[in-house]
Amino acid sequence: MVKLARKKILLGIGGGIAAYKSAMLVRLLVAQGAEVRVVMTKGGQAFIQPLTLQALSGHPVHCELLDPEAEAGMGHIELSRWPDLILLAPATANLLARLAAGMADELLTTLVLAAKVPVWLAPAMNQQMWQAAVTQRNLHSLTQLNPHWQFLGPDSGSQACGEVGPGRMLEPQAMVEAMIAALTAEAWQPLAGKKILLTAGPTQEPLDPVRFLSNHSSGKMGYALAEQCQALGADVVLISGPVELACPAGVQRIRVQTAREMLAAVEQHLPQCFAFFAAAAVADFYLPEVAKHKLKKAEQQLDSLTLNLLPNPDILATVAGHQQRPSWVIGFAAETDNLLPHARAKRVRKGADLILANQVGMFDSGMKAENNAITLIADDHEHSFAMQDKTSLAKEVMTYLCQQIFRN
Ligand code: C5P
Repeated sequence: MVKLARKKILLGIGGGIAAYKSAMLVRLLVAQGAEVRVVMTKGGQAFIQPLTLQALSGHPVHCELLDPEAEAGMGHIELSRWPDLILLAPATANLLARLAAGMADELLTTLVLAAKVPVWLAPAMNQQMWQAAVTQRNLHSLTQLNPHWQFLGPDSGSQACGEVGPGRMLEPQAMVEAMIAALTAEAWQPLAGKKILLTAGPTQEPLDPVRFLSNHSSGKMGYALAEQCQALGADVVLISGPVELACPAGVQRIRVQTAREMLAAVEQHLPQCFAFFAAAAVADFYLPEVAKHKLKKAEQQLDSLTLNLLPNPDILATVAGHQQRPSWVIGFAAETDNLLPHARAKRVRKGADLILANQVGMFDSGMKAENNAITLIADDHEHSFAMQDKTSLAKEVMTYLCQQIFRN
């Protein structure tokens, strides 16, 4: 059985001869199911080819801080937010010195400076360099300044340079075992054995074979919540409208197009559900008689077009009033103005236990954006979560729900 399934490890490779062992480290991590991204310093690239690490990790290796292409894809801040753990191996004397000085002079030091996740360091250097007073001072200040950082090794023994003493990088197998112990012992699974159902994304309501009514929902918030529920141990079913996103690992996804299909799929998966999150932006209306052929402006000489739309079922309200109602029914409110009064009214009107309210239409927040801010509205209290990327927001919201709400 793999022991690091879905764990995200960012491996930073510094410029030391022990870098050749980092290839094996990637191999072992991937074999344990981990997702590995590699960042290399210039020195690291002198010892081992990025292509080797790319082939072993299955992802492009990141080397440049000021690379427009990389910044458009996974930039340094995004890279620093992505992993569950950053491991620097080998952490050379130079890398330790630059980190101790707070330098952000290339990609690896910059993303460590920006990281909020645990940072582990596996020092590797000549024994004299390791014992040098300045290296020991750097080590001391890094430990003082970052009490949550962890040093793995170094080992003592024969060195590539022919000398004997402390400074050998820990063997890859030992590092992987340490990671398994730390990352799996830490796994907090308050939702183990609980089934959670979510809707996400837009719905599309066809008008003819090629056109539809829809909205700008990207599905990111619902997918981020589904991923977190899964990480917290839940059995997750995600009913998704048409979106471009990959299905989070371990989540059962059912794709639908229209609101009526979404409701049917939700009702089918409702039995024994602990919680239901309605994160989808469901279209309010649909066209009951969809044209069999493409509507043509010219042939019909249309100056204007009237569509007789009917209201879609309200999925959230239906679940809230359902015979098989889950213990927790949670809706979303996306409003451009008067967010909180609308959201409070929506909670009562729809019979939901909680509403997660988010402002849309603001720059870089809400529907299509990467970032979002949420106010949770319950019957007796409200709680705000600051603007941040949707993955970390989903993590905060789910932690709060598990710690403060689901226990009541
Ligand atoms: O569109 P509205 O602002 O009413 O959406 C509020 C909440 O209701 C959201 O959680 C949304 O997913 C849900 N909803 C639904 N079915 C609809 C309309 C909205 O489940 N037809």
